[in-house]
Amino acid sequence: MIELIKNEKELRTSRLHSEKDIDLIGTGGYVSPIDHLYEDVLIAVSLKKPVLLKGPTGAGKTKLAETVSHFFSQPIQSINCSVDLDAEALLGFKTIVIKEGTNVIEFVDGPVVEAMKKGHILYIDEINMAKPETLPILHSVLDYRRMLTNPYTGEVIKAHPDFSVIAAINEGYIGTTPMNEALKNRFVSFSIPYITGELLEELFNNLFPNAPKDLHTLMLNLAEDLMAQVQQGLLAEDAASIRSLQYAMDLAQYMDPLRAIEYAIAEKLDDEQEKRLVLELASSWVK
Ligand SMILES: Nc1ncnc2c1ncn2[C@@H]1O[C@H](COP(=O)(O)OP(=O)(O)OP(=O)(O)O)[C@@H](O)[C@H]1O
Ligand SMILES: [Mg+2]
Repeated sequence: MIELIKNEKELRTSRLHSEKDIDLIGTGGYVSPIDHLYEDVLIAVSLKKPVLLKGPTGAGKTKLAETVSHFFSQPIQSINCSVDLDAEALLGFKTIVIKEGTNVIEFVDGPVVEAMKKGHILYIDEINMAKPETLPILHSVLDYRRMLTNPYTGEVIKAHPDFSVIAAINEGYIGTTPMNEALKNRFVSFSIPYITGELLEELFNNLFPNAPKDLHTLMLNLAEDLMAQVQQGLLAEDAASIRSLQYAMDLAQYMDPLRAIEYAIAEKLDDEQEKRLVLELASSWVK
């Protein structure tokens, strides 16, 4: 591991966090699909560059962010973007509290402000689901200024040195809009593909150490087939989702693997022909 990351890890792990915030530290376990990908993300985070993870559903984007949090022992706060996301959901809101018998107005910090002040990782999920007018409020947070003037309180917030941003998108899905150029420009961007072959085998060995050997073989062979069909354009990309394969493996330990594959993979595809194809591929591996 390079010196930059080592030094940054030392700094970040030395910070004290409250018990509540310690609960926000992620678990590790991300398996890097390409040599260097995970380390390159750590370099970008160490350099305080906002990181954008682009990839299909169930490719491990959230897992990667959680693993970065684990690596730096740094709490991670999440925002889920939707069309309803507004400035208050990001920055916080005013509320009335009773102090010594009188009503006082207090501001409750939202996830962005809290992460900036406490030096947490801010994970912005599905950043391209947000309304385009909501996110420009983050521009000064995401560029070299690393600061924000809270429009509700006038407070100027300078980010803690550890504050880091990781965002994720599923490109091209229904309901998503292309990211605004100025927003996208503030990130360094990583493509996150599904893991395959030996890496998937390694992941499944870790996750399912007690599952029968032939079940491992079945799922890994099916995963290879699904990936090949996706590459040929015969199956939707989600068909090879690692999440779905993992669910199939979970279920298959308690039921006929073909039914497990039907529920966890085939039934989630919209196209009838694709469903049949998945089940045929699976059947060909069942003895
Ligand atoms: N490369 C990987 N290493 C470790 N686990 C992985 C990997 N890829 C997928 N997984 C596992 O697959 C499941 C889905 O991963 P995750 O939730 O991170 O996907 P995602 O890319 O965030 O999907 P979505 O876009 O739907 O939010 C998790 O249980 C995760 O552990
Ligand atoms: Mg996710």
